[in-house]
Amino acid sequence: MKELLIVWHSMTGGSKALAEAALQGAMVDSTVTVRSLSADQASVSDMFAADGYLFVFPENLAAISGVMKAFFDRCYYPCLGRIEGRPYAVIICAGSDGTNAARQAERIATGWRLRKIADALIICTHAQTEAAILAPKTIAEEDMEQARQTGAQIAAGMALGIF
Ligand SMILES: Cc1cc2nc3c(=O)[nH]c(=O)nc-3n(C[C@H](O)[C@H](O)[C@H](O)COP(=O)(O)O)c2cc1C
Repeated sequence: MKELLIVWHSMTGGSKALAEAALQGAMVDSTVTVRSLSADQASVSDMFAADGYLFVFPENLAAISGVMKAFFDRCYYPCLGRIEGRPYAVIICAGSDGTNAARQAERIATGWRLRKIADALIICTHAQTEAAILAPKTIAEEDMEQARQTGAQIAAGMALGIF
């Protein structure tokens, strides 16, 4: 049975909610095992054990959030040359942008020679003030649905052997 690994980080709950939605979507396909791990817990052996990846995290300071970046830093060289060709997708929770974090994640995945199954899904919470940025996030239902669909899409492709 193939395994999809979701690795996520979240400070104010938006990316966590999106990762949970993606998990729900992926679990509709019962022929793929889905694991969800926070970025501070995910290890190189978790990466090896999986057949595909979904990375979910916020953009902070025009970059991949620090905890998520630490996960990539920890796993990059041990995984290099050992996970080539596996499918991946990215979901980013951002205030108003998200594009630079998406670009950075794509460069890391290109280095790993992963196979991109879709452009990064960027969900903007439109938080602008300090108070709004630091407040717990509620993700709109249509955005949760997009994350569900991303999870369903990668799981279905893995189950069918398309990816
Ligand atoms: C320190 C910090 C820096 C941020 N920098 C950006 C940024 O560069 N671009 C952006 O679109 N949003 C930025 N944001 C907003 C977050 O991406 C947004 O609040 C997002 O919903 C956080 O996701 P989370 O709820 O999963 O933590 C920043 C937030 C914080 C706390």
